[in-house]
Amino acid sequence: MKIVDYPIKPLKQQQWHWRVHPYFTKQASNVVREYIRNFSEEGDVVLDPFCGTGVTLIEALTLKRRAIGVDLDPLAVFITRETCVAPIDLEKFEKEFRKIEKEIAPLVKFVREAEQRDIDNYKIKEWYPKGIKLPSNSDFDFVEDLFDKRQLIIYVKLLVLINKISDKEIKELFKLVFSNTLGKANLTYMDNLVRGPEGGGPSIFGKYRYWRPTKKVIIDVWKNFEQRFENIKKAKQESNKLFKDYFKEPLGDFFKENSTFEVIKGSATNLSKFLPAQSVDYIYTDPPYGAHIAYLDLSTMWNAWLGFDVSEEDKKLEAIEGGELKKSKEDYINLIFESIAEMARVLKKNKFLSIVFQHKDVAYWNMIQEACQKAGFNYINTVYQPTNTTSIHKKKNPLMVMGSQLILNFQRTEKVANVGFSLRDESQIEKIILDTAERVIVDKGGTAITEDIYAQIVPQLLEAGLLHIANKRYKELLPLLNKNFEQDTNGFWQVRKGTQLGQHIDRKKKIEYFTGSALRKNGKMKLEDIIGAVFPNLTNGSTPTRKEFMEVLGEIAEPMGEEWELKSGKQNLFLDLQPQKKLELFGEPFSEHNRVIYSLVKLANKLGLSAYIGKNEQRDKAFDGLNHLSKLPIVKFTEVQRKRVEQIDCIWFHNDGTPAYAFEVEESTPITTALERFWALLEVVPELGNTRRLLLIIPRSRQQKAEQELSSSSFIGHPQFMDQKVKYIFKEKFLERYLGILNSPEVKLDEIDTLGQSFRLISE
Ligand SMILES: C[S@@+](CC[C@H](N)C(=O)[O-])C[C@H]1O[C@@H](n2cnc3c(N)ncnc32)[C@H](O)[C@@H]1O
Repeated sequence: MKIVDYPIKPLKQQQWHWRVHPYFTKQASNVVREYIRNFSEEGDVVLDPFCGTGVTLIEALTLKRRAIGVDLDPLAVFITRETCVAPIDLEKFEKEFRKIEKEIAPLVKFVREAEQRDIDNYKIKEWYPKGIKLPSNSDFDFVEDLFDKRQLIIYVKLLVLINKISDKEIKELFKLVFSNTLGKANLTYMDNLVRGPEGGGPSIFGKYRYWRPTKKVIIDVWKNFEQRFENIKKAKQESNKLFKDYFKEPLGDFFKENSTFEVIKGSATNLSKFLPAQSVDYIYTDPPYGAHIAYLDLSTMWNAWLGFDVSEEDKKLEAIEGGELKKSKEDYINLIFESIAEMARVLKKNKFLSIVFQHKDVAYWNMIQEACQKAGFNYINTVYQPTNTTSIHKKKNPLMVMGSQLILNFQRTEKVANVGFSLRDESQIEKIILDTAERVIVDKGGTAITEDIYAQIVPQLLEAGLLHIANKRYKELLPLLNKNFEQDTNGFWQVRKGTQLGQHIDRKKKIEYFTGSALRKNGKMKLEDIIGAVFPNLTNGSTPTRKEFMEVLGEIAEPMGEEWELKSGKQNLFLDLQPQKKLELFGEPFSEHNRVIYSLVKLANKLGLSAYIGKNEQRDKAFDGLNHLSKLPIVKFTEVQRKRVEQIDCIWFHNDGTPAYAFEVEESTPITTALERFWALLEVVPELGNTRRLLLIIPRSRQQKAEQELSSSSFIGHPQFMDQKVKYIFKEKFLERYLGILNSPEVKLDEIDTLGQSFRLISE
């Protein structure tokens, strides 16, 4: 059991169950998985009382936990059940599909080819939902109005054919295909002309209401059904494979409903009605938030077609604001309060609850805190959890987190504890920020990057009730951090030399941090030298005994003859790969182009050179964590030369300010632009040309184009002879070699010279 206190990069679209059925909101599977893995154990019972499409259940089952899902919306219950059920007899599934295909073919042909008059005259004899009112904010009155007659004809026939299937499991799965198709092939479908470049889609999921687009688009029902069948078949192939070992003894019918998973249509406010007290080992849940998603109203179309009942009582119990019943904020808060009290009843003592919070208003966060404490939960922490892949690092103002999620973790205790939310003085803001940063730097043993620090500061400020004020006061946190800490050449934050670490940091941690820092910087060190480097930082009432010091040293380092060295496991922590991986924590912070430049800066640092990065590139905040120059050290330029040289992607400088190497990374700009910039640099520093230390980095796909451009350029031949001054390397090859060079113990500039090759000029 481990408490999750870090953000996880959300990977939504990659899971096998992603395409099984759309829903109004979905959790990122890998985030849920990490929580379940840490907060529970194999065989445990995991509950999600607001389960939606059942992401929590799937992940729990994948990790061999038993899973229970509760939702008021019968559509959600249906999707969850059909997603979890395994194994599926895919041969049968395919066979039934071929049958449907064959039987429906003439009607599909008719619908696709018939004159409108014939369609109008066509009488639908079988059942379909008629007279069921859509929510009042819809642009359509009744469920049947959501379809063109051509669509309706096929839907009705499909339902008849599906109902004929004798195998219950397969029949239900076809209903899922049907239901999935309903989500797309209806008249709320927006063409991308209306919706913009992200492509078309039904408005139900984009606007959270049944909105009528200006342009009517009639999506072909059968074609869509076919595609959805393929998607679901693929998903089931995956899950059959994934769970194949589970079907064998001793787990046996692991994935059979009511054996290892259970989905209940009911309200989270009534959990003790279906679950015994203290029977659950872990709860992960993502309750509704905000006013704009009224789940039951929005599911009207599906529930009508699938024949699911939604009663007035259900609507009363739905924990939302607004909706058809025009629920107030108080109604919403009361329902959430009740459900939290119920969660406390069914959860075992000392077990955990993780609750996702994504409301824009911090007051609601406070409300959840309070409700949990009243119910008998002990507050553990709040974790910043981004929902998309934008890096916090890249965000202009990292304190504006409310577009993301926060996950609050609690532990069920015997007694109600009094911890958590307390309003603090505004003057505490800076202290909170700095204390937190310092703690993170020390906790990470000197390998914390900016993102690690931000991710911890936000929850701390929130807990103090100061986030909104901090947010107004600090548009940028970096200047404040820079004043008190510094970044090393790897971009890792360090405590400034000579600074005493705060009282709140445990002495052992302090010893570990300073010892690690010294050894990392110097490689091997004699014991006395380590003591000399570490002890002066540990005065201030916290001087350790030699025994204490030796214990810590023994944990992180080992003696090599007379000297000490960091243990290999500890050293790994400081490997260069680390910051790069971490920077990717929230997705791709760099464009391909800037990633190469990032690598060039790292190489320069490794070689003991300074790297200047191009004016445009400097705007990318992702470079903030790096040690680089943002001004050119050379002063001899004319205005025009300077303007050109400033655009060069990366220039390395020796300590005395003379240029050592220049690089242009060309993805799509013409090679001649790069040559022009290089030429401006050569006018002042011709040596770079003579030593051929001008390197073009181009994608492999551009080789021919580059050679052509170069051949026809006026830079070739007399008087510039640029072809003899510039070399090139493929970007792919460069990135491959980069890590090798970076991690080799000693690198010289000559090694960089071996990277490039000459242009093969195309003769006339
Ligand atoms: C944010 S969604 C959950 C989405 C889910 N985490 C997923 O990844 O698919 C919230 C769910 O709570 C359900 N809900 C609302 N009020 C409820 C209540 N009183 N009891 C149980 N479920 C409720 C809604 O129907 C909706 O499916």
